Amino acid sequence: MTLPAWLEPRLSLPAIAAPMFIISRPELVIAQCKAGIVGAFPSLNARPSGVLEEWLTRLRAELTDADAPFAVNLIVHKTNPRLQEDLALCVKYRVPIIITSLGAMPEVNEAVHGYGGLVLHDVINDEFAHKAVARGADGLIAVAAGAGGHAGTINPFALVQEIRAWFDGPLALSGAIANGRSIAAARALGADLAYIGSAFIATQEADAPAAYKQMVVESSAKDILYSNLFTGVHGNYLIPSIKAAGLDPALLAGADPAKMEWSQVVNGSKAWRDIWGAGQGIGAVRDIVPAATLIARLRDEYQAALAHLGAETNA
Ligand SMILES: Cc1cc2nc3c(=O)[nH]c(=O)nc-3n(C[C@H](O)[C@H](O)[C@H](O)COP(=O)(O)O)c2cc1C
Repeated sequence: MTLPAWLEPRLSLPAIAAPMFIISRPELVIAQCKAGIVGAFPSLNARPSGVLEEWLTRLRAELTDADAPFAVNLIVHKTNPRLQEDLALCVKYRVPIIITSLGAMPEVNEAVHGYGGLVLHDVINDEFAHKAVARGADGLIAVAAGAGGHAGTINPFALVQEIRAWFDGPLALSGAIANGRSIAAARALGADLAYIGSAFIATQEADAPAAYKQMVVESSAKDILYSNLFTGVHGNYLIPSIKAAGLDPALLAGADPAKMEWSQVVNGSKAWRDIWGAGQGIGAVRDIVPAATLIARLRDEYQAALAHLGAETNA
């Protein structure tokens, strides 16, 4: 692994639970870290802004060095007015891992490095990967096609192959990873860690309506639509939620990406609140369970996959 020496021994499974808008809150992050994977939340989930300090205080109090470290996701984009304030709190509470999305800013990376934190930047192509590393990110999250949220369009084989051709630092792979075999596959491709989002929507600690969790359990890849209508940026959404909002998925026209607006109202439905995001991997999600149960399943499946491959190699 190319991970920092302090990180690997604290993980029971090589995985990061991806930050999810609205859904990831301290209850979920604590459960993820206590079960041995990096738990993460977007700073913007702590609303109003003063709540972020309460969350960081709680995480610092409840998590110990025996648990996996936690991560905060900062949206590094001009549309995020809270960036500087949230960054200052992350520095104050020495958040172990910062996940930056949408923009790579040297000042953000320098602030995190100032207290010894690790910056992972998420990218959807090799060009953005080069820019992020040039601007000081320590590691990369390759967001491949099929991921929940603002996914890319590049196949994971191609994306990791291009990044690993020149980058030997920490690398996580994201996109439709929802079982242990996929974690083993991500590692075989050359990633250090799997980065798993949608599977955690169907956990008891996730802050999502019961109907959303159930829709994740009942849906599979065919139920996911890739569209830029809801936020101006392409992302993957659950078709049954689009229908429930009174929209016809077949008639959705593309929106203007220049008008990026996180809370854009479409026919009275707010993206993320009524139009529910999920990636293509949710066919592996069969029930709503505590996060620790999901992580235990992933660990068992991951070990079984490694044993299976090992047996084949030795045959
Ligand atoms: C409902 C939802 C909300 C998300 N919100 C964010 C976010 O606020 N910030 C971010 O960096 N990524 C966000 N993501 C993307 C995830 O961090 C991650 O890249 C993705 O979920 C991985 O793919 P998977 O869902 O197929 O596992 C979101 C994903 C989902 C499904």
